[in-house]
Amino acid sequence: MAIDYSALDRDALIDLVKKLDTTKKYGLVWEADRTREIFENDLHTSIPFLTEVKKKHIFKDDALPNNLFIEGDNYHALSVLNYTHQGKIDVIYIDPPYNTGNKSWKYNNDYVEKDDNFKHSKWLSFMSKRLLLAKKLLTQSGVIVVAIDDYEIHTLRLLMDEIFGERNRMGTITVVHNPRGRNDEKFFATSHEYLLVYALNEEFATLGHFKLTEEDIDSYSKSDGISAFSETPFIRTGNNSTRESRPNLYYPIYFNEKSGALSLTKSAGDVELLPVNEAGEEKTWRWGKDTFEAKKDTELTCRVVKGTPRLFKKRRVIDSKGKKPKTVWSEPRYDASAHGIMVLQKLFGEKDVFPYPKSLYAVKDILELITTPTSTVLDFFAGSGTTGHAVSLLNKDDGGSRQFILCTDNENNIAVDVCYPRTKKVIEGVDTAPDITGIPSNLYYYQTSFIKKSPSVDETKIQLAEKCNELIKIREGVFHTIKETDDFYLMAQSDRYVGVYFSIDSNNIKKLKIELDKVSGHKTVYVFTLDSFGVNMDDFDDWTGIEILPIPQSILEIFEGVSNV
Ligand SMILES: C[S@@+](CC[C@H](N)C(=O)[O-])C[C@H]1O[C@@H](n2cnc3c(N)ncnc32)[C@H](O)[C@@H]1O
Repeated sequence: MAIDYSALDRDALIDLVKKLDTTKKYGLVWEADRTREIFENDLHTSIPFLTEVKKKHIFKDDALPNNLFIEGDNYHALSVLNYTHQGKIDVIYIDPPYNTGNKSWKYNNDYVEKDDNFKHSKWLSFMSKRLLLAKKLLTQSGVIVVAIDDYEIHTLRLLMDEIFGERNRMGTITVVHNPRGRNDEKFFATSHEYLLVYALNEEFATLGHFKLTEEDIDSYSKSDGISAFSETPFIRTGNNSTRESRPNLYYPIYFNEKSGALSLTKSAGDVELLPVNEAGEEKTWRWGKDTFEAKKDTELTCRVVKGTPRLFKKRRVIDSKGKKPKTVWSEPRYDASAHGIMVLQKLFGEKDVFPYPKSLYAVKDILELITTPTSTVLDFFAGSGTTGHAVSLLNKDDGGSRQFILCTDNENNIAVDVCYPRTKKVIEGVDTAPDITGIPSNLYYYQTSFIKKSPSVDETKIQLAEKCNELIKIREGVFHTIKETDDFYLMAQSDRYVGVYFSIDSNNIKKLKIELDKVSGHKTVYVFTLDSFGVNMDDFDDWTGIEILPIPQSILEIFEGVSNV
């Protein structure tokens, strides 16, 4: 809506000029004030929460990974995860709506159309709020990957640079997800999209290598008593490879053609070799003299090439860390139709399950590079659940225990009819497709919900404490309630016990202590207190070996923090 400046009085005009003066002049700007989400008004009056949907839990075994499924708006899910998982998520993979204007994304309950003047502002408002919440969840070595295409790549990259920092950008990968190209386009037939990869802190982030394929292994075509190897010239190439830049690495090596021996000292019949390339340029060897002496007999070979003896270093298959990932991924397994849509068709035994799944292998491959076998992976635009599937496959491949957290809204019943059933099929296998065997893990299902804040802070705290056991289960990763009374819950999993004493009346807390004394293992107790400074530890003198934590002040503080994001 355009402002009628002539209708503004002097003070209003001065305010406007002051605002303009403090407005950012370079970088990404958008109409944040005019594109607020409807629920933002409720942020100060209600507290987002999770309610468990018991009948949808899938429990297989305590020793298996515990995965979470959250149905609801991801803004609320991320707010709650800020209590349960702040600083604990290793990897975030998301594939947000691409904002194509093709009735595929609703904002404030309406589709964002192609000709909407605020379409980029709406998308940026939507994404920035969620990315800011998501950032707080990452571990110090955490990595976030966002799939995106041409509609928003440029705005998203600026936004990610702003939120995560340009120096933490690990790379931009082009994925050929549609090798046939979109033929209905006016000009070029788009066949690719992108993955933007950012670290929370590039100093601590690591990136793995791809495993060698059989073809790669075959390229190590020579072999000695140690292993298969290929050869690379012993003359250094590239940066810092001239004699001038590293004179210590320029020295003669003597080769005896008869015995094949290499030496730093000349004997009769030896040929002198110098690091001079075919163009006659003086370069350097790859190693200094000490390393040469130590490795010359096993790690170097010498052959005559075009009449001149040349030295080669052995590149051993056993030393290979794998293949360094490149920035263009064009292999057929990244085709979203063949390995996304068709995967769903096979799992569900029907067509048109969901139009925009990613290739299972595009997600699996990026996760293979940035997860460890014990990582926790979050996808808060889970759609058809490809991320959960990919995490399960990775665990199957390497025996890992990665956990996943999937969050999706239920637009067009995607959560209830696609994401959850797919995840269940991945865990349990599919009767009608015997080649799809289950990859067992546990899954706990939640829906986002709200607690209305009461005008009295104490009243709100009491309400919160009574209902917070689900949040504490998720935070502690301890999911079985083994005792429930009017004053406390006791939860357990493996050798871990978590009590929640939620009653305002502290008289019955001894009863919880009696229950805890009956068991052995790691014990934590969350104790209700109205005192914002926490529980009075003098009351817990005889609770040795039990960790005592206060509720619900800490929960309230987190929500106050996130509602100001
Ligand atoms: C592009 S799809 C993700 C597809 C997914 N990567 C796959 O392979 O199936 C984006 C998904 O995010 C969901 N979504 C959009 N806005 C959301 C929100 N605010 N909260 C939670 N989910 C949302 C949509 O329903 C849609 O299913």
